Amino acid sequence: MSKNTAKSKLVIGNWKMNLSFDEAEELATSIQETLADFNLQTEVAICPPFPYLELVTDLADEGEAYSAGAQNCSQFNNGAYTGEVSAKMLADMGVDFCIVGHSERRKYFKESNEVLAEKIDRLTENQVIPVVCCGETLEERKSGKHFEVVEKQLTETLFHLSKNEFEHTVIAYEPIWAIGTGETATPEQAEEMHKFIRSLVEKKYGTEIAYNTYILYGGSCNPKNAVELFSQPDVDGGLIGGASLKCGDFVDIIEAAETTTSEN
Ligand code: 13P
Repeated sequence: MSKNTAKSKLVIGNWKMNLSFDEAEELATSIQETLADFNLQTEVAICPPFPYLELVTDLADEGEAYSAGAQNCSQFNNGAYTGEVSAKMLADMGVDFCIVGHSERRKYFKESNEVLAEKIDRLTENQVIPVVCCGETLEERKSGKHFEVVEKQLTETLFHLSKNEFEHTVIAYEPIWAIGTGETATPEQAEEMHKFIRSLVEKKYGTEIAYNTYILYGGSCNPKNAVELFSQPDVDGGLIGGASLKCGDFVDIIEAAETTTSEN
């Protein structure tokens, strides 16, 4: 199924491991001040590194222009896990979203689908919305395995959730070959995969939940290509890396989300 009536979009900035504290403060403040001038339908969230989360949750509370998100959490509840941050700690800080299973974490920190499923459980138990990433490598796409790869990632990380739990999750399709490379999936490639993902959700959770599920696109999304990508019927917004580090670019992408919402 495709969604066919207007639904507001969701744009999330993933700052990854970037910015000094002063730069983070300046960026979060400028985004808040700029968005204060708009009456947005689009929902916006910012995912800074952990040490800047309180800054972002404070600004989020103050301006109500965006929500705060984390980039990762532990699969454990609490205890002797040096260096880890629990889902409960995020919830206590007023964090609304948490990215799970980004390809950088799968690659550099060897996070398996099994561990990611546990992280998603901890987040849903604590009412933090998991933003679950999936996506194929260039080799997998070239060999025609991209649908199979994405289906396996979603089945093994997310589809064990009950309907109630699943309703409070977000999916982000991030083809690995498009992340930080300047090479974007074409709007057709993005739509084809998003539609496929929505059909998997429909099969598992039914039509209404499939329609309501946010499926974001991530991978070199920028102010130039955002309108075309967000105009696709099954693209509900974006998970933005590099372009979320510049206030002007990020706000332009949010405006693209606004424009395409009224168009759809
Ligand atoms: P870029 O927008 O820098 O390609 O990064 C996308 C991403 O990984 C967002 O999580």
